[in-house]
Formats: sequence, C-alpha cells, structure tokens
Amino acid sequence: MLLKTTGLTKIFGGLVAVHDVDLTVDAGQIVGLIGPNGAGKSTIINLISGFLRPTRGQIDFDGRNITALKPHQVARLGIGRTFQIIPFFGQFTALENIVASFYLSADTGLWGPIFNTRAYRRREKDIWRQAEEHLQLVGLGGVRDELAKNLPHGYQRVLDLANALAVKPKLLLLDEPLGGMDSEEISLALKVINKIRSQGTTILLIEHNVAIVMSLCDRIVVVNYGRKIAEGPPGEVRKNKEVIRAYFGGDHAA
Ligand SMILES: Nc1ncnc2c1ncn2[C@@H]1O[C@H](COP(=O)(O)OP(=O)(O)OP(=O)(O)O)[C@@H](O)[C@H]1O
Ligand SMILES: [Mg+2]
Repeated sequence: MLLKTTGLTKIFGGLVAVHDVDLTVDAGQIVGLIGPNGAGKSTIINLISGFLRPTRGQIDFDGRNITALKPHQVARLGIGRTFQIIPFFGQFTALENIVASFYLSADTGLWGPIFNTRAYRRREKDIWRQAEEHLQLVGLGGVRDELAKNLPHGYQRVLDLANALAVKPKLLLLDEPLGGMDSEEISLALKVINKIRSQGTTILLIEHNVAIVMSLCDRIVVVNYGRKIAEGPPGEVRKNKEVIRAYFGGDHAA
C-alpha cells in the first residue's frame, strides 16, 4: 500500500476536525474522499501534504513515516497536490507554466543555469519540447500563448492539473479539482485526470459531484464530523445506510 494513515487526528481549539481516521490508498488506485461540508476532507489532505501537523496519529507513505515532515519534504518524496487558490504564474503563458513545473521537478542543478553549460542548454531545449507535447496532450494546445491570468477560471484549473501531472508525483492529492467548472471544462479536466491515472500516478480525490466520484474512483472513503463512516467500492458505498443518512438526512434515506 502506498499511503496509510493510522489514528489520524486534528484538533483545532476545541473542534475535532479529523477524528481517528485510518485511511489506506493502494498504488495505482483512484480513491475518492467524500463527505458533507466541514466533514474534515481538506484537513486530511492538508495533514498528508504536511501543511498541517496532526494532533495525534501517524502517516506512512511509500514505506516511510512522513508524519512530521514539512510540505517541501513531502513533495520531494513524490506527493503532489493542487490548490484551491491556484499558485500558477499569472504573468506566464500556459506553456511557460508547464515549463516552470518541469523545471521544478527536473534535477537541473544550480550550476547549469549559472554557467550556462552545454548540458544545461540541451536539457533546457528538452524541457521546452516536452512542455509543448504535454500541453497538447492535456488539450490546452489552443491556449498555449495565453497568459495564465487571462484564461477562464476552468482552464486555469486544468492548467493547475497539467502542472501537477508534469511533476509526475507518485501520489496526487486533488481537493475539488472540478470546482467552478462548466461542463466543457469538466470533460477536459476529467481527461487530464485519466491521463494522470494512466501514467501510473495514484490519486486521492475530494469531489462533491457523487456521479463523477462513482464513475472515476476504484474505492471511496466517506467521512462525517471528522470520522470515517464507510469505505469500499463505489457500488457498496452508494448503498450504505449511514452514508445516505449523512448526505440526505434521516428519513430521505430511500
Ligand atoms: N485552520 C483551521 N482552524 C480552525 N478550524 C478549522 C481550520 N481548518 C478547518 N477547520 C474546521 O475543521 C472542520 C473541517 O474542515 P475541512 O475544511 O477539513 O472540511 P471539508 O470536509 O473540506 O469541507 P468542505 O466540503 O466544505 O470543503 C470544519 O468545521 C472547519 O471549520
Ligand atoms: Mg474542503
């Protein structure tokens, strides 16, 4: 198994946002993390990526205890994430954004750019060519030279996904990647997510659209008030009484 949390707990002041959550994600899977508003989903992703420190519990990734690591250390081990507030470079074009991501992931070293060595120049040409291919692959070829800040919101988010894909993480944490998108942008984003999956990247996905989660995910984990209340394959989770109650409230269970 690639990721495992044991007794993961986060308390904010008096509020138990995440309560004793045991979560596992196997390599190659897309696991959906769902639950009502305020259930603790984003907090779980912030804990895994090192942006928050757990109050209790342990996080293991790829055979290592990463509980106390900082975000950049977690990223270096191969956990990527997208952000609600998109950290793309607004003044860069779509293509330049991808190039920047390739640079961040490629081990170009410090000396190459300073001395402009031949190896570095060759590497740089490579990166631009790969970025160009990558942009076509994710369906953003048409906005190649647009400044990121001028793109429609949904395209910015697809660009954010494309950036995450460029880094080739082992595990990608996606917090509502389809939020605020129209249907055309959603289908573009779903294509990118499927590309990410087909390159072997494992995904933990938070998404409110139940139909999308059901169709995309191999397994689903449901949280409510910080606790895990159900997990399993989509077909099973959909029928789970406690899940139905959490989503629709008591008597609407049918
Ligand atoms: N930094 C923080 N400080 C204090 N409370 C927080 C903090 N972050 C989250 N919370 C609280 O923890 C609980 C879980 O929040 P979280 O954002 O993880 O929920 P969520 O499942 O992602 O919800 P949503 O579906 O609305 O995005 C909420 O009650 C929230 O108000
Ligand atoms: Mg959230």
